[in-house]
Amino acid sequence: MVSTHPTGVQYSGSQYLPQRRDSSANPSPNQELLPLTARVDDHHLLEIGGCDVTTLVEQFGSPLYILDEETLRSACQQYRDAFKQYYKGESQVLYASKAWNCLAVCAIAASEGLGIDVVSGGELYTALQAGVSPQKIYLHGNNKSHEELILAIKSGVTIVADNWYELRTLVEIAQPAQPIRIMLRLTPGIECHTHEYIRTGHLDSKFGFDPNDLDQVFTFVSQQPALNCVGVHAHIGSQIFERQPHQDLAAVMVQWLRDAAKYGLNITELNVGGGLGIKYTESDDPPSIEEWVKAICEVIQEACAAENLPLPKLLSEPGRSLIATACVTAYTIGSSKVIPEIRTYVAIDGGMSDNPRPITYQSVYRAVVANKMSSPLTETVTIAGKHCESGDILIHNALLPKTEPGDILVVMGTGAYNYSMASNYNRLPRPAAAVVANGEANLILQRETYQDLIRQDRLPERLKNSH
Ligand code: LLP
Repeated sequence: MVSTHPTGVQYSGSQYLPQRRDSSANPSPNQELLPLTARVDDHHLLEIGGCDVTTLVEQFGSPLYILDEETLRSACQQYRDAFKQYYKGESQVLYASKAWNCLAVCAIAASEGLGIDVVSGGELYTALQAGVSPQKIYLHGNNKSHEELILAIKSGVTIVADNWYELRTLVEIAQPAQPIRIMLRLTPGIECHTHEYIRTGHLDSKFGFDPNDLDQVFTFVSQQPALNCVGVHAHIGSQIFERQPHQDLAAVMVQWLRDAAKYGLNITELNVGGGLGIKYTESDDPPSIEEWVKAICEVIQEACAAENLPLPKLLSEPGRSLIATACVTAYTIGSSKVIPEIRTYVAIDGGMSDNPRPITYQSVYRAVVANKMSSPLTETVTIAGKHCESGDILIHNALLPKTEPGDILVVMGTGAYNYSMASNYNRLPRPAAAVVANGEANLILQRETYQDLIRQDRLPERLKNSH
């Protein structure tokens, strides 16, 4: 169904350009829809990082993840600088690389002074290969394998111990002469308003020690010479817009610090996790990175002062708010299907395999047409992926200019949990990714080929020529 914008005003894709540039020299990337360098050129084409998006698609193929280096660096700097400004003690921001773990992204985050949070042997290996210092890598996970623990210990990274099974395994593996550097992950029992799949801080969570076990956990750890417990960790969830839950968390964690001291544990690090939300649609209004950091620092400083505790080294591990807005996904529009009086489907050359978030969490995205940035938005269409699955809908009711095959659809805010959760469903090769900066584009992830798809396949002899 074709319709005009309900307000009757004919907006264009340009409305999504970063809005806060004039009013603030330092816009918070998590409050924008397009990357900070996005602009529309004289030919009404979308440019990111000084590169024309349609040319990038010609060069690297479609679909294409386009990562704007300036937006990612700006977010890293904002976190880093805000902690320096508002926290009187030492601080360290870790990039939660589950949002997008690959060599180039780890290298950029590390070059901005960030450490890396990893959750598997694969993420750990990638961070090490990217040249990240093991002293700045923290390994998470609620069921780390023996191999993962050994790799972490050999590499000298900090292990965030999640449960009793893991603690006992660590004690078995450890050499008392070389204590293993660990933190303890605890469940704070804090509820927050976000999708139930991405909530982790409530008591009924698979992650972390139950706070009721605090006494036993601290007692056990304090008696293990092979474990060097340096800190406590908690994470309450993701895509959170309220500041209160993180402030509550900060206060609870300072109580844990106070309690740990009673067991003779010298806890010097406190990690408040990540979770700050980003703007996926016009109506999303998350706090800025600076506002979020300030709120947490204030609570910790006040609570430590009240308890007469020295300020711990303060760690945080944002993922989404560092990288989501820095990336867009460019697709090529193909077929369409008009169902009179019902809807118009416009299909693209990707879908749930490169962005599983809409089908998994009912996530809402916005899109623009890169080659029609100044055209009025006159059509409301459903953007369908190309997978054999009716639920493979990327955007419901996308307001777009009139489109035709070959147009380049750009979905915004796809840097977090898109590539990292991508699959080969229907044996679609995963897209390429390019990083753009100052008019230059470099490939950071090669497009998979059909050969890649069968690389791990094995055809037993007896099945060969059996037909
Ligand atoms: N730290 C821990 C221990 C985490 O579990 C997470 C995210 C983070 C930090 C980073 O949270 P962020 O700053 O990105 O909100 N796949 C879901 C999100 C799952 C988040 C998992 N943990 C999505 O696409 O929304």
